[in-house]
Amino acid sequence: MTQNFSELQKKILRLKKEKKALILAHNYQTIDIQEIADFVGDSLQLARKSAEPNGYEMIIFAGVKFMAEMAAILSPEVPVYIPDPRALCPLAAYLDAEKICAKKKEYPGVPVVVYVNTTAAAKSEADYICTSGSAVEVVESLGVNRVIFGPDANLADYVRTHTNVEIIDLDEEGHCYVHDKFDTDMLKELKAKYPNSLAIAHPECPLEVQTAADMIGSTGMMAKTVAETKSKVILIATEMGMIQQLQKNHPDKKIIPIFEGAVCRQMKKHTLEKILYVLEERPEENLVTVPEEYVPHIRQILEQMNKVKGQGPATAVTAEAS
Ligand code: 13P
Ligand code: SF4
Repeated sequence: MTQNFSELQKKILRLKKEKKALILAHNYQTIDIQEIADFVGDSLQLARKSAEPNGYEMIIFAGVKFMAEMAAILSPEVPVYIPDPRALCPLAAYLDAEKICAKKKEYPGVPVVVYVNTTAAAKSEADYICTSGSAVEVVESLGVNRVIFGPDANLADYVRTHTNVEIIDLDEEGHCYVHDKFDTDMLKELKAKYPNSLAIAHPECPLEVQTAADMIGSTGMMAKTVAETKSKVILIATEMGMIQQLQKNHPDKKIIPIFEGAVCRQMKKHTLEKILYVLEERPEENLVTVPEEYVPHIRQILEQMNKVKGQGPATAVTAEAS
């Protein structure tokens, strides 16, 4: 597929080469940003890319802050910049270190697994870390009967329904405002209209939506499944950036958002103009740093997470639609 780039995109592509910059973008970025990125993926895939040795002189991370922090920790030699430092995931801001300490006191000896969507301070109190694409595998790899898990209660439900490990919520109210908006009526309505469609939901969606979907998985798994499925109509329950990407990459398939209002305002703070500015100026305020005292522990648990295989083929709830 040949790509027609805008003048601004061409300028960024030229400068990126000149400055030896690596641009990483999350699947929820707008399509114009995805087009100029070196790599687009889910949290786990982006963490892995950040950790790869490379000859780059800077990384520009178009995602929310906790993701850019992950890159800064895993790639200590290369400065990491975020196009808009105000791109903060509200789910990550939700959980503070004190809440984790209180749970640890309540359940002494029970390991704490935190979702990667957390602040560095919260991660510093965790024993293990996971993404949506590695949550089940990380929890199962521990060989224990129960774990403390959070902050996303819907992801906790997903893990609970896919393992025999008892899951103690860090916070039963923890959720992502984008994914919590999905409901089963939206899904049922579209399923009635497109009976042969394949419905895929992100595990941050409420459990009832997960159960009604044909598959559940990370955004990376969604990209893989849509590429491999024979289904011509795919219903997607996640953020709209993913829909744009899937439709662009698969013009022969009909990609339908289950809810068009699912837009992450924080992910959308990044723009091409801001990426260009960072490339040209390397501004201090866009440099991503993590307090030194947190770094060794977080690096260790991130590296440990990167060793798990992660979500390969999707978790099939029902047989794949034809
Ligand atoms: P993924 O790791 O599946 O891309 O999810 C990240 C996220 O923030 C979902 O809201
Ligand atoms: Fe955070 Fe939700 Fe946005 Fe993902 S979609 S970055 S969990 S607010």
